[in-house]
Amino acid sequence: MDALEALCTRTSIGALVEPGPTDAQLDAILRAASRAPDHGRMRPWRFLLIRGEARERFGEVLAEALRRADSSATDALLERERRKPLRAPAILVVAVTPQPRPGVPEIEQILAGGAAAQNVLLAAHAQGLGTMWRTGERAYDDHVKQALGLPTTAAIIGFIYLGTPAPDTRPKPVEPPAAAIEWTGAPAGP
Ligand SMILES: Cc1cc2nc3c(=O)[nH]c(=O)nc-3n(C[C@H](O)[C@H](O)[C@H](O)COP(=O)(O)O)c2cc1C
Repeated sequence: MDALEALCTRTSIGALVEPGPTDAQLDAILRAASRAPDHGRMRPWRFLLIRGEARERFGEVLAEALRRADSSATDALLERERRKPLRAPAILVVAVTPQPRPGVPEIEQILAGGAAAQNVLLAAHAQGLGTMWRTGERAYDDHVKQALGLPTTAAIIGFIYLGTPAPDTRPKPVEPPAAAIEWTGAPAGP
């Protein structure tokens, strides 16, 4: 698949099954992620891979975070949270801990992390893998950050679920592309 085809055909895939990415595929994914535009070449991103049984341990972390955030969470809700990481063979957590740097505001460091996350999606897709970029309340939760070894100042950009698209995955309808409004000097209007 060439680059433009990968860009124009990527979609999110919620139903992801085994096999997960091989080490060689992960290596290519991380090389692509590391080529994201990055103001000041700060390499602001950090990637954490959760796969195999570690997904169950991560599920415990998510459930505990929910329990701490909402003491009225029912057992059913806690169990649902616990099972979330099992929705795919692997999860790549993309995080950025912004650092003070003149000329590179925090938002630009976060955006660089977002660009790296997008490269993860595209590199996975180009290799025949499926992905789903998720966040949710647990991405903003200090208990989760601490369990992942991240400072509470870290921004979890995404939990990127990775795996093989389930056999019954149907192609999504293609949305019309966005049009660029050409600006020629006069106000372009709303
Ligand atoms: C920062 C970010 C966080 C997201 N978090 C979630 C999420 O928690 N749950 C979800 O269903 N979709 C989430 N999405 C959206 C999906 O990843 C996906 O882009 C969306 O469903 C549209 O599908 P498409 O990628 O096939 O166009 C998130 C997207 C971004 C960029």
